[in-house]
Amino acid sequence: MMGDTLFLQFYNQIKDSYFDLCNGFSDTHDLCRSKGDFYWTQHEVDSSRWYDEGIYAQRKLPIEKGTVYISAIYLNHLYQSYVWAREYPDIQFVVGGPVAAERSCNDEAWNPVYFQLAPNTSLPGNLKITGMSVEDRFHVPNFSGQWKLMIPESVAPSSPIYFSYTLDNRCYWSKCVYCNIALHAGELFRQRKKLDFEFKEVTHPGTKIVRLNTGSLTPAHIRKLLPTLPRRDDFEYRLFMRPARPENNALKEAIGSMKESFPKMTLGLGIEFPSDRMLKYAGKGFGKDEILESLAICRDHDIRTNGNVMLGWNNLIEEDLHELRDFMERVPAGSMATIQVRWLFAHPYTEIHETCSGEPVHLGPFYLGFRTEVDDAQTALNREAADIIDHYSSIKVFRPDGMAGVRRYLERG
Ligand SMILES: C[S@@+](CC[C@H](N)C(=O)[O-])C[C@H]1O[C@@H](n2cnc3c(N)ncnc32)[C@H](O)[C@@H]1O
Ligand code: SF4
Repeated sequence: MMGDTLFLQFYNQIKDSYFDLCNGFSDTHDLCRSKGDFYWTQHEVDSSRWYDEGIYAQRKLPIEKGTVYISAIYLNHLYQSYVWAREYPDIQFVVGGPVAAERSCNDEAWNPVYFQLAPNTSLPGNLKITGMSVEDRFHVPNFSGQWKLMIPESVAPSSPIYFSYTLDNRCYWSKCVYCNIALHAGELFRQRKKLDFEFKEVTHPGTKIVRLNTGSLTPAHIRKLLPTLPRRDDFEYRLFMRPARPENNALKEAIGSMKESFPKMTLGLGIEFPSDRMLKYAGKGFGKDEILESLAICRDHDIRTNGNVMLGWNNLIEEDLHELRDFMERVPAGSMATIQVRWLFAHPYTEIHETCSGEPVHLGPFYLGFRTEVDDAQTALNREAADIIDHYSSIKVFRPDGMAGVRRYLERG
């Protein structure tokens, strides 16, 4: 029998492989347990179905009145909260989590980072989306509780699980012109001070994929944290690192300080568009030689990497393509397992949103921005970049993920 206060989390299996636990309330397990019941519900994995309100309407809650705290990790969780708030007028919904983050703090108004409200739209009165943490809400210090991980009963013991261990809720760099993590309000900065890696106590026998959560690792994280990560065959780590000189130096120091190799980990490197001119335009603060150095270090020390690349730029010049070819020529073979290619998405409030254009994307009442649309000349340059990446995928032995989606946008042009 459920009480009248629920802490709701989404979860689901991704690509017939691991379960994403979207583990919002684990950080505040004891606090939440003292106030209500935990409740798991299905996360919609197929993002093409996120726009269909029917998907949300068919999902029912086990209570008719009370308070439901929702941990929103992906944007569809906001839409689900909105639909529930209309359907359950006697429930107060309090939604927090990464996609509820604020871009600035003002007592009068809540300023979301991840969307704008569509014109002439207001949120139901019983729906509060907040950048505050659960601890802020209940007036206890952030990260003061015991970290735990709840695992839904339907997850088989042998299944791999994926969850986050939060280091902090921002990016120390915060300068990239397309990035909404860069806009998180400084006033709501939260950082785990005591890094005890409590997830090593998780009893689940299957593989545990741990995202060490921060926008981008700091050089201090690399020096102090990476060498102390628990090493076990059933743990894998995922992290984002800027492939920049200070990070490379910190990585070399960390490697030098260790007797063994790093535990199994995948570093996500924001390569974006590897020409010095484009990296400067994007606000990355590093050049392509620094990326090549990161790749060489990782290859020499068995660190798996995923290069993140974006296409859909409206300002490419021929020189950028020469540089991209030169970069690909110099990539150490076998240093990147995958290149994840994405089409540039212009999030509200970012510089890209102001300087590019495209068809607005709405998720129910939430305006999310647009995928950039580029003219014929720019489409041709972006297509050439895609061809270069595909060409080098067999030579440098990486898998170009996401290319089919990017090619669909190129055909639209
Ligand atoms: C979640 S971000 C974190 C990036 C990480 N902090 C870094 O700089 O390496 C991972 C990747 O997503 C891609 N990305 C971020 N914002 C994007 C946007 N607005 N449109 C398309 N791709 C984006 C970029 O390639 C970025 O490197
Ligand atoms: S380094 Fe990564 S998280 Fe930080 S601002 Fe740039 S893209 Fe965003």
